[in-house]
Amino acid sequence: MSNETQDLAAPAEMAARLVNPASFGDPATLHADLAWLRGHQPVSLVDTAGVDPFWLVSRHGDIMDIERQPDIFRNGDLSTVLIGSPMLKAVENATGCPHLTRNMVNMDGAEHRAYRSLVQSWFMPGNVKKLTDDIREIARAHVDRMMGLSGECDFVADVALHYPLHVIMSILGVPEEDEQRMLMLTQQLFGARDPELSRKADAMADPDTAIKVFGAVVADFHAYFSNITANRRAEPRDDLATIIANAMIDGKPIDERAANDFYILVATAGHDTTSASTAGAIWALAERPALLAEVKANPDLIPALVDEAIRWVTPVKHFMRAVARDHEVNGHHYKAGDWVMLSYMSANRDEAVFDDPFEFRLDRPANKQIAFGYGPHLCVGQHLARLEMKTLFEELLPRIESLEIAGEPAWTQATLVSGPKRLPIRFTQS
Ligand code: HEM
Repeated sequence: MSNETQDLAAPAEMAARLVNPASFGDPATLHADLAWLRGHQPVSLVDTAGVDPFWLVSRHGDIMDIERQPDIFRNGDLSTVLIGSPMLKAVENATGCPHLTRNMVNMDGAEHRAYRSLVQSWFMPGNVKKLTDDIREIARAHVDRMMGLSGECDFVADVALHYPLHVIMSILGVPEEDEQRMLMLTQQLFGARDPELSRKADAMADPDTAIKVFGAVVADFHAYFSNITANRRAEPRDDLATIIANAMIDGKPIDERAANDFYILVATAGHDTTSASTAGAIWALAERPALLAEVKANPDLIPALVDEAIRWVTPVKHFMRAVARDHEVNGHHYKAGDWVMLSYMSANRDEAVFDDPFEFRLDRPANKQIAFGYGPHLCVGQHLARLEMKTLFEELLPRIESLEIAGEPAWTQATLVSGPKRLPIRFTQS
């Protein structure tokens, strides 16, 4: 490390916390770290045990400027998620690339555009709107179920986990009886280091064990989706699975692995994130009776509630980029080969962009949250996620009178996707 670089290093204790999945169980401490970095070292070198060194970019504006330059800050060349360097090598040995699965998230340029365009129009607001009635029916069924729980429940386990799961699985054409399996596999992938969710959390620090566990989870997904691919090729239907199974790139059908990795992306990205934001909104309302009364009295505030909950939780904590050539952004010199973390978790509390960023407020004139990222990889499912959340609150809020926290909530211990893992609440019905 040069002296100049050393000056930009994040303090050692902070660096260790920022890469430790367990720290994400205590977001307040991490938020304090990130606020310090935004104020003192907005682009900070994190050089700590277990991971290759990387630049942590903590300010909203810097992240947007980086995402505007996808030819320089690339997704395909290094891991797009923070994994330890021994694990990265194990992944490379197993898959021949730095990614456990290869999907549009870790593609660049023309290849990324080709894969994204296969489903982009399907996810546009005009098309997603057609699902409104189906989504409302699913939302109502989940609210009915909650109302049957005699005024107390774990909102995560009883409502938030299942509702977006059911929506995305019906969109993908996965039968209801297989949803639990999909949920378990997703949690084993995203919560691999969380003792309550992982197949083997205690052994995941060992890269050989970790790659076997991840490999087994991915193989389970593949085995499942191979059947769906075969089925939709033989009997096409009007669903997203049929679009993926029969997708063509450059005039040729995509191969089975590409199709399977595509399903895995949609099946995993499409529910945990939305569940986390939904639970975050209920948590915020349970702690703020006046806000609950305000939204109940004025349902036009629901879209603002949705966007603020997404900002508040920011379920996807980061994505990584690899620097293709030496380049300067806002005074920081990146070198070819550098690994860069875009910390959405930090950006969404950036005091330069949000008044009172640590307040949950519905009066943000235009909520500039970037929980869905920005630029060419901007979340393709954002309109669906917003519609799902809005519909659930439209159904739920008129039916509850009061809400309160009724036990110790907990957060998922994961560096990539983390949100409320347990949310005991007490409620009375209207
Ligand atoms: C990409 C967040 C819901 C599918 C992303 C990215 C983020 C994100 C941060 C990467 C953006 C970037 O690199 O700039 C979220 C959040 C959600 C959510 C916070 C819920 C609140 C969904 C849903 C789907 C979905 C419901 C539906 C299937 C995808 C896909 C990509 C993506 C396919 C890859 C886009 C690309 O690489 O071009 N999402 N997402 N997401 N998301 Fe979401």
